[in-house]
Amino acid sequence: MSVNSPTIPVIAIDGPSASGKGSVAESVAKHLGFHYLDSGALYRIVALAAKNNDIVWSDAAALGAMVPPLTIAFKSGEVLLDEQNVSKAIRSPAMSNGASQVAVHPEVRAALLSLQHSFRQAPGLVADGRDMASVVFTDAQLKIFLTANVEERANRRFKQLTQQSIDADFDKILHDLKERDARDCSRSSAPLLQTKEAVFLDTDNRNIAQAVAFVLKEYEVSLQKHNNQQ
Ligand code: DC
Repeated sequence: MSVNSPTIPVIAIDGPSASGKGSVAESVAKHLGFHYLDSGALYRIVALAAKNNDIVWSDAAALGAMVPPLTIAFKSGEVLLDEQNVSKAIRSPAMSNGASQVAVHPEVRAALLSLQHSFRQAPGLVADGRDMASVVFTDAQLKIFLTANVEERANRRFKQLTQQSIDADFDKILHDLKERDARDCSRSSAPLLQTKEAVFLDTDNRNIAQAVAFVLKEYEVSLQKHNNQQ
């Protein structure tokens, strides 16, 4: 648990959709031998489970009650929901949209909290999402706010899809990203925001490797500061 394990370091990386924070966080975790939490996957799973159970994404009470009995696991890079591999299903544009809709409900956010805390295990955790620094791991050793402008993010998403030979429409991607940004930033419960301690990382002109190097350097600096305070 976050509050019970303050000695286990956490690197919190928050940012908007398609900013590349997932790739950066995963790679930082690999470099450090830390665990990795993709918190967005949890909201995607809730959206998918709701669809499978005929619960609408606006029904906060039903969604909140649906979450605790779900069996959610991450194994060898795959995401399992009740032992089914849902890695691909949760990445569809419909689930991206659904995740952003179920995430507005405090009932859903509260139901996912202890599961997120349980990822904090030795030797450390890299967690990415929207509220890692502001709500879930407020005592994180390092907080990063990673972003890129929305056109650049839409461009990256467009390239990703076309490289996978998936039909993609740039204007639709841009429109959907703007809609999700607006919802994720304006909701009253745990909106995406840059906390005052967070280090700003703009990836407009940085590739993944450069962003990873930046985070690793900041982590070293945070360790030195921590040691000097001892
Ligand atoms: O990071 P992602 O695109 O996979 O996240 C999907 C949605 O989940 C995003 O639109 C908002 C929500 N989310 C959230 O509210 N809080 C988090 N910590 C992570 C994701």
